[in-house]
Formats: sequence, C-alpha cells, structure tokens
Amino acid sequence: MRHHRIAAIGGDGIGQEVIPAGLDVLRALQERCGDFALEVEEFPWGSDFYRETGRMMPEDGLETLKRFDAIYFGAVGDPHLPDDLTLWGLRLNICQNFDQYANIRPTRVLPGLQSPLRGVGPGDIDWVIVRENSEGEYAGHGGRAHRGQDIEVATETSIFTRVGVERIMRTAFRIAASRPRKLLTVVTKSNAQRHGMVFWDEVAAQVAKDFPEVRMEKELVDAMAARFVRKPGSIDTVVATNLHADILSDLAGALTGSLGIAPTANLDPERRFPSMFEPIHGSAFDITGKGVANPVATFWTACMMLDHLGEAAASARLMRGIEAATAGGVLTPDLGGSASTKDVTEAVIAAIRGDN
Ligand code: NAI
Ligand code: MG
Repeated sequence: MRHHRIAAIGGDGIGQEVIPAGLDVLRALQERCGDFALEVEEFPWGSDFYRETGRMMPEDGLETLKRFDAIYFGAVGDPHLPDDLTLWGLRLNICQNFDQYANIRPTRVLPGLQSPLRGVGPGDIDWVIVRENSEGEYAGHGGRAHRGQDIEVATETSIFTRVGVERIMRTAFRIAASRPRKLLTVVTKSNAQRHGMVFWDEVAAQVAKDFPEVRMEKELVDAMAARFVRKPGSIDTVVATNLHADILSDLAGALTGSLGIAPTANLDPERRFPSMFEPIHGSAFDITGKGVANPVATFWTACMMLDHLGEAAASARLMRGIEAATAGGVLTPDLGGSASTKDVTEAVIAAIRGDN
C-alpha cells in the first residue's frame, strides 16, 4: 500500500463546498483502487480564520504544510476583506514560499459539453497552458512616489531572470515532449517589449536545442488570443509569462464551457516543497451556500494531484468517472444543467464504483 499525505484547505466561499466534495470522491477512489492510501488533514484557514485570529493562516502554517506530499486547495476571497490581503495571506504566501514556479493548466472540452465557439466540441480543444508563476509582471517590483500630487508616479517593473525563464521553458518543453503532437508555442511580445521579451525568446531558443523532438513556434500574445478562437485545433502546449498566461488561461477556460471545470497545478517540479492543486475559479460568493457550485474543476484538479503523486492509474480512473458524469448530462447550472454539487459528486462516485 502506497501512502500519501494531503493537506486540504477549502478556504473561502465555494472552496468550502467543492473541497469536501473532492475528498468524498477521493475516498471512493481509494476504495475502488485499493493500492494507495491518502492521509488527509483538513485546515480551516481563510477569511473566517482571519476574523478570529488576525491571520489567514497560522504563523507556522508553512512549516506545517512542508510535512505533506501535496496541498489540495479550494479558493480564497471574501467580499468583506480586501482581495490582496486574502490572496497574499494564504494562496500566494504558499505559492511564493514553496517556489511553485510552474502553473499548469490543462484545457479540454469534456464529453457532453459544448464550447461557446460554433462547431467546437470534445476533441477539438486539447491544450496544456504552462504559466510562469514566480516572476515576470507579477514580481511585485516597483513603487510609487509623490502620492496625491500632480507629479505622482507609479512603476510596475517586469522581472525576467535567466534562472526563472530557463526553468519554465524546460518544464514546458518536457510537457510538450510527453504529448503526442510534440508542439510547443512560446507566447511572447518581443516586437514591442525589447528587453524582457527578447530575452524570453532567446532563452526559449537555447532550451529548444535540448529537445530536438519538439517543434517550437513563436506567437505574439495578441495574435495568440485570436488564434485561440479562430484555430483552436492548431494548438497543443503553450508557454507564457505570468500576466500573459493569466489572461489567456481565463479565455481558454471560457472556451471549454465554464470556469467551473478548469483545473490547475502549482508545481515545484524539483519537489523541494509540496505542490498545490486547485480549481482555477475563485470563491464565487454569488453562488456560495446554494449547493450549486460545479465540483468538476476540483475533481479534475485531484487527477493532476494523483498524477504528481505517481498514481496515474487512479488519476485515469477518476477522469473516466468525471467524463461519465458530464457525458451523462449530470451538469450544474453554469453548464446549463440543473444538477447540484451533490448530484455531480454522487454521479462521479457511482461511475468510479462501476469502473472496471
Ligand atoms: P470567481 O471565479 O469566484 O467567479 C466568477 C464567476 O464564475 C461567478 O459568476 C461564479 O459564480 C462563477 N463560478 C466560478 N466557479 C464556479 C463553479 N465552480 N461553479 C459554478 N460557477 C462558478 O471569480 P471572481 O468573482 O472574480 O472572484 C471572487 C473572489 O475569488 C475574489 O475575491 C477573487 O479575488 C477570488 N479569486 C481567488 C482565486 C483563488 O483562490 N485561486 C482565483 C480567482 C479569484
Ligand atoms: Mg486569473
């Protein structure tokens, strides 16, 4: 029996609804597979915890998390607290301190779902977006001076380091090489941004030499946005900066049907620290407490976590369970259906139990 230690953090809003659903599904999966065990510990961190203690997580929270093999995370964000406080206090605190520099976002139209693009269905979009998750435009480098005066100035400087660019390129090439099409599109803006983005392109070309089996192409970010919509079938693996991939991946999520199905992994590929797995969506307080949050993104996220833990067979079994539920039309309102979170969870569990 293989054992894995999982830290589960529901966080805020629908995070507290979809993570428990994900844990139910993982329990059923362990029973069905019988060859691995997840030792799950749940942590009540987030905005309620902040209201009680003045912190989003305890002071020694990171030390606690280091003992785990993976972190299964819901979302943070509370309408009554500033977003930068909640995000930096918990989620970004974990991402930054555990150097989870590779953000991986698989994008696919699941069986039974329809893209808002005319004529695009399952099989027509099958992408992996690799987002640089530690520097670039979100490095936090900059400042403000002369506040409130006419001469007030604010700067937000993008940071591109050789270490940072090279390691995300290597991760992206490795993923591209593992997929049938072996195609990597490097998203850039080196026509307008002459320093950081030209450097980005140069490092990509250097790393490409170590992956002769991968076909690399370059695309400007604005053209890439148009290509997502006009020629989705021409895309496979995509690597982009923190900001560019942030925007492109929301577009990608929308093109596959709903934000409620899109998963993500925040990886430390060197495994010095636990990696974190979470749905792309936020705390969605507009639907919190109604029991209609789509748990599919959180389930698919669990597939990524299982892959990372070396449980590929269990991951594939869970994915088959998810696809059985969507193909069977068990869909929450964001996908045009009328199923509840519980209905979808039960459908996936039933499919797992009946899976051969
Ligand atoms: P959001 O993703 O929470 O919601 C956007 C829209 O999508 C809403 O209409 C929501 O109802 C819908 N939606 C999202 N997930 C859904 C699901 N699983 N099932 C059905 N419908 C779903 O983004 P929004 O509204 O911009 O942000 C809300 C809060 O979440 C903010 O405080 C924001 O900072 C935070 N946030 C946190 C993230 C994280 O923890 N990783 C990521 C994105 C936002
Ligand atoms: Mg985003």
